Amino acid sequence: MISTDSLFWIVLAVAIFGFIPFILHLIFREDRWDWKNININDIVFPDSFIWGTATASHQVEGGCNNNWSEFEKGYKDDGEPNIKDAQISGEACDHWNRISDDIKLIKDLGVKHYRFSLEWSKIEPEKGVYCKNALSHYSMMIDELISNGIQPVITLHHFAHPIWFDEIGAFEEEDNISHLVAFSERVFEEYSDRVKYWCTINEPGVVAIQGYFTGMFPPGLNNGRLTAEVYKNLLESHVQIYHQLKKHKNASKVKIGIVKNINQFEPWSRYNLFDWMFTLAMNHVFNWSAINFFKSGKLKFRVPFMMWHSHVNKKAKDSLDFFGLNYYSHNHIKFNPFRKDFSDLMYREEDTLTDMPYTIYAEGMYRAIKLVSSLGYPIIITENGVADKEDNIRAEYIAKYLYAVRKAMHDGYNVIGYYYWSLMDNFEWAFGYDMRFGLYKVDFDTQERSLREGSKTLIDIVKRHESEI
Ligand code: GAL
Repeated sequence: MISTDSLFWIVLAVAIFGFIPFILHLIFREDRWDWKNININDIVFPDSFIWGTATASHQVEGGCNNNWSEFEKGYKDDGEPNIKDAQISGEACDHWNRISDDIKLIKDLGVKHYRFSLEWSKIEPEKGVYCKNALSHYSMMIDELISNGIQPVITLHHFAHPIWFDEIGAFEEEDNISHLVAFSERVFEEYSDRVKYWCTINEPGVVAIQGYFTGMFPPGLNNGRLTAEVYKNLLESHVQIYHQLKKHKNASKVKIGIVKNINQFEPWSRYNLFDWMFTLAMNHVFNWSAINFFKSGKLKFRVPFMMWHSHVNKKAKDSLDFFGLNYYSHNHIKFNPFRKDFSDLMYREEDTLTDMPYTIYAEGMYRAIKLVSSLGYPIIITENGVADKEDNIRAEYIAKYLYAVRKAMHDGYNVIGYYYWSLMDNFEWAFGYDMRFGLYKVDFDTQERSLREGSKTLIDIVKRHESEI
C-alpha cells in the first residue's frame, strides 16, 4: 500500500518530469516538412530580390595580423591545438592580391551584391594610426565592384580585430566600444558615398559564446560572466555605431543593420526535462535575448549559476534599417553535467549531415525568418551555405533553403535578399581549411578557383526571374 506522502511525491514527480516537457513539446515545435511531396525544382523569386555572396577578410585575404592569427598559434589546456591540426590562416585565398580576378568570379555568378568585411587590423594597425594603403585598397575594390555592376556590402566587425584592441581587453571592457565606433566613423567617411549597405557586427552571440563559453574561438575561455558581458558590449557597439553613423551627411543614402545568426537549440529528447531546461537557456541567451533587446531596449541574460546580467539602452529599439539573418541549421542537445559546456551534440539518423557538425534543416530557415520578422524590419539573409567537400549535397541544400525563403515570402515575411556563404572555400575558423563552403572550389597550393557543380543550382535560381516565367 502506497502512503499518502509517497503518492504526493510520485504525483509531483510525474507532474514535473512528465507534464512540463509535454507542454513545452507543444509550445516549441520542431517543424518537419514532407519534402517528398514538395517540388524544389522550380523556385522563382521576384525581379527585385537581391542576390549576393559573402566572405570575411580574415578568412580570405591572407596576411592578417590580428587576434585570430595569434589564437591560431595556440593550444588548449588538454594539449589540442586551437585550430584543427594546428592549421593557420596564412595566405588564405590571397583575395587581397587577386581581387580583380575574384570580382570577375562574382560577376559570373550573376549576383549583384558582394558582402565582405574590412580588416580592421590592416586599416588601423596601431591605435589611432590609419594605413593609407589599406584604405585605398578597399576604395579601389569598391570602385571595381561597382564598375562590374556589383554593390559592395561592408561588414565592420567580422570576428577579427587588431592585436592592440585585444591587449586592452577587446569587448570585455565597455569603454573599448569607442574604438570600434571611431574606426567605423573613419571608414564610413571614406566609403559611404559609394556603399549603401553596412553591417555593423557579425554574429555577436557566436563571438561571445564561442570565445568565452565553449572556448572554440579566441580568447578560448569558459566563463559565463564574461560571455554575457562581451555579448552585451557587442550589441551595445552595434547601437552606438548605428546612431553615430546616422549623424553623417551620407546617412540618408545608406542602410545599416546588424548580422545575427539564429540557431535553434532543440532538446535531444522532447520528454526530458533536463534537455529542455538546457536548450531553453541556450535559446534564451543565443537567440531570444538579442531579439528582445531590439524590441524593447532591454537586454537580459538569465541563467542561474552561470550568468545573470541585464542592460538597458532604449536606443536599441531604433537601431536597424534591416536585419541581417545568418542561418545554417539547428542543433539537438543532450544535457550532460560532466562536460564544461554541459551538452552533447546529437544527430537524428534520418537527417543528412553536412561536413560541419550539423544537418540540413531548411525548415529552420523558415522558423528563423518568422522569429526575426517580429521586429518588423526588412530581412536580408546575409549568410547561408553548406560545407560539402565532395559537393554531394550542395545542390539539395541550396534548393531546399531557398524554397524555405520563398515560402516565407509567400506567407508575407519581408525577406529582400539572400547572400550565399561563401564565394569560395576559405579559412573556416576553428576548423581551418577542412570545411569547404565555396561556390568556387579553391586549390590552396595553386590558388586556382573552379566553379562547383552544385553551385549551378544557385546560378539557375538567380537567373530565373519571375517576369520571365
Ligand atoms: C558564420 C560566420 C562565417 C562562416 C560561416 C560558416 O558563423 O559568420 O564567417 O564561417 O559561419 O560556418
